[in-house]
Amino acid sequence: MLVSAAMTAAFAKLIEPVLDEVLVNKRADLIVPMATAVFVIFLLNGTSTYIHSVMMNTVGQSVVTDIQRDLFSRFLDLDLEFFHDNPSGQLVARMISDVNAMRVAVSDSITGIGKSFLTLVFLIVIMFMQDTTLALIAIGIFPPAALFVAWLGRRIRRIARNIQGEIAALSGSLTQIFQGIRQVKAYGMEDYERARAGLTIDSIKKLFFKIFKSSNLSTPVNEALLGIALMGLIIYGGRQVVSGVMTAGELMSFITAFSLSYEPLKRLAKLNNNLQTGLGAAERVFGMIDRQPEIIDRVGAAGLCADAPEIVFENVSFSYGHDEGRALDGVSFTLPAGKVTALVGPSGSGKTTAMNLVPRFYDVTGGRVLIAGRDVRDVTMKSLRAHIALVSQDITIFDDTVRANIGYGREGASDAEIEEAARFAAADEFTRALPRGYDTRLGEHGVKLSGGQRQRIAIARAMLRNAPIVLLDEATSALDSESEMAIQASLEKLQKGRTTLVIAHRLSTVRNADKIIVLDKGRVVETGGHADLSDGGGLYARMQAAGLRG
Ligand SMILES: Nc1ncnc2c1ncn2[C@@H]1O[C@H](COP(=O)(O)OP(=O)(O)OP(=O)(O)O)[C@@H](O)[C@H]1O
Ligand SMILES: [Mg+2]
Repeated sequence: MLVSAAMTAAFAKLIEPVLDEVLVNKRADLIVPMATAVFVIFLLNGTSTYIHSVMMNTVGQSVVTDIQRDLFSRFLDLDLEFFHDNPSGQLVARMISDVNAMRVAVSDSITGIGKSFLTLVFLIVIMFMQDTTLALIAIGIFPPAALFVAWLGRRIRRIARNIQGEIAALSGSLTQIFQGIRQVKAYGMEDYERARAGLTIDSIKKLFFKIFKSSNLSTPVNEALLGIALMGLIIYGGRQVVSGVMTAGELMSFITAFSLSYEPLKRLAKLNNNLQTGLGAAERVFGMIDRQPEIIDRVGAAGLCADAPEIVFENVSFSYGHDEGRALDGVSFTLPAGKVTALVGPSGSGKTTAMNLVPRFYDVTGGRVLIAGRDVRDVTMKSLRAHIALVSQDITIFDDTVRANIGYGREGASDAEIEEAARFAAADEFTRALPRGYDTRLGEHGVKLSGGQRQRIAIARAMLRNAPIVLLDEATSALDSESEMAIQASLEKLQKGRTTLVIAHRLSTVRNADKIIVLDKGRVVETGGHADLSDGGGLYARMQAAGLRG
């Protein structure tokens, strides 16, 4: 950068001997050396510009790549609550579009700003060397120009922030529309969604137009300021040359330096705009990176090591957020070691909430959860979760092969182990019937499978994990009796010898449980075996009469 800035200044300085010695004094011997000097100056300028651009870009891009990696890594560490508050599409936009704005700022601005600034400084030095008064006239336009650039930068940063926000919103709503495309079509909401997305797209267009108008405003304003300064230079400098105080070469050299200084000045104004956009993006990206997960290992947390441990809920309370009602209110119960405990209760009674507290997806707000006699908050999260196999209510199938989907249960599982788990979960037969067997891709959310097949893949995954604790949130959707039986059989194999908590919606599940806990409005209302509770005439008996579900 130094070399290329110095070369620009050297060229302005060279104008003086070219004009005074060669043109005015007619020194023929200097023609070729001067011409060669000009060539060398341009060659050096070009080469050094190339080198510094490549170097700065390499550094800049590496930094941005690191930031992208850090951002993703931070996302993965954040609490579940964060993901419930931020639509996934918006997070994708942060990863892609904000980081990209930073990339543009880094590659264009950081390289350009350094060089333009240095060039400007060198040219100003040349101007002062030539004539102090002239230099003062010339740089008189810098303060108003700088103020203007700063004002413009702030304005652009504000608009850019809105643009990135709108893009994130658009990306968020598009993701939801595509995921719910079946609903959109079934309810004939295509036009509604078209109009809604259209509004955001339109407002993005308007904001871009605004930013374009603002950033290009720098051209007319700077041109006018330049005109004023040149006018002053010609009036004052012309008089100096006419009265013989200054040579024509000196004035021309000055005007060249001044004209050359206009280019970096203009570049600085433009680059500042890009930089402001990038800074706005950086603010949001670092805002995310600086977020700390709340659920973390305590200092001195030890590893958990237990097979088929007893799990105890001791006077557990929990509420989502701060001012809302309690989802769990002083709940106490025990899950006996190696046995199956069923959790039943009406919808919204807090079953899923209670289950979420075992792997610390959330932390209790009161009381404690103990595994093998130890508070879950006193053991490392990694070891805690390694003890748990989870089949959640909303089954997650990744857009990947059957093999990879089942293999998600345990890193490094062999093909034989994966297929064995599939056989246990009654998923082997239908998998083999798929067009490419275990190598068939299942589509986003496993759209290429039936509901029951998805469940069996999820059970195979949990089976492969071979963990001492099984958490099972039964899907509420009805299954035909044949696949219900297939799933029931595979679940029994999964639960054997493991401490199992199953949120039951099916009668067949509760009948097989060793113990039943009935929740209602965040409180335990009944506990016992199926036979006792059926005769008890309480909530369980009423739910059973209605065919359970919940
Ligand atoms: N992420 C969340 N943020 C805020 N409130 C929540 C959240 N998840 C659940 N709730 C609330 O907590 C209460 C208990 O919900 P929970 O999911 O535990 O019910 P459930 O018993 O599993 O119901 P279902 O049988 O329908 O699955 C409900 O009132 C629900 O509105
Ligand atoms: Mg639930």
